[in-house]
Amino acid sequence: MLKIEAINIKKSFGSRKIFSNINFSLNSKNILGITGKNGSGKSTLVKIIAGIITASSGELRYILSDKVLDYSEINKYYGFVSPYLQLYDEFSAFENIALISKIRNIYVDEKKIQQLLERVGLIDRKDDYVREFSSGMKQRLKYVAALYHNPSLLILDEPRSNLDSEGISIIYEIINEHKLNGSVIIATNDLEDIQICDSIIDLDKISNSK
Ligand SMILES: Nc1ncnc2c1ncn2[C@@H]1O[C@H](COP(=O)(O)OP(=O)(O)OP(=O)(O)O)[C@@H](O)[C@H]1O
Ligand SMILES: [Mg+2]
Repeated sequence: MLKIEAINIKKSFGSRKIFSNINFSLNSKNILGITGKNGSGKSTLVKIIAGIITASSGELRYILSDKVLDYSEINKYYGFVSPYLQLYDEFSAFENIALISKIRNIYVDEKKIQQLLERVGLIDRKDDYVREFSSGMKQRLKYVAALYHNPSLLILDEPRSNLDSEGISIIYEIINEHKLNGSVIIATNDLEDIQICDSIIDLDKISNSK
């Protein structure tokens, strides 16, 4: 079982301090919420957790069976949905996921891609170019990309972005199912999202004294 630990994470961009004193421990079967006003650093913190940017100080650990994973391999263990994740506009929905699986160096399992596309309601559009997709359809496809490699951790920045009520129900089902064995981190300002979290980091309330 995967465990994520953050110890005294601090982030500054130049002279602007975004946050400090971030400490948490996240075990399987738990959902961690990250909240705070616009510009409080939610996306910055999830990017640090995903190893996309580095913290100014502090430590972040992915621990599997008591062993701290090397930073270079943590992307095998999480799936990431975010507004800044880019899909390939010039390829179809199916091809996007096939491409991502090739980049990840894992077998392109056509059946599995189809099952996931079905799950998010995109199976009828699987061969259409992503450039022709609506914003909510793109958001649904990002969930397929995030789930395809069976990650232990799901990191969701603005999980319901552009989704309609049916889309939101689908992602809540995905989150609840994922929680049975894995963990979830949600960066959000939506009260309904916050209610499903087992613990919350409120960046507006964290002491920023150091
Ligand atoms: N690459 C960067 N260089 C400089 N400053 C940055 C950079 N990325 C983010 N920031 C700053 O960090 C702060 C936090 O931004 P961030 O995107 O993490 O906020 P957020 O909580 O996700 O906001 P929102 O609710 O609008 O999504 C902002 O002041 C932003 O300008
Ligand atoms: Mg953000």
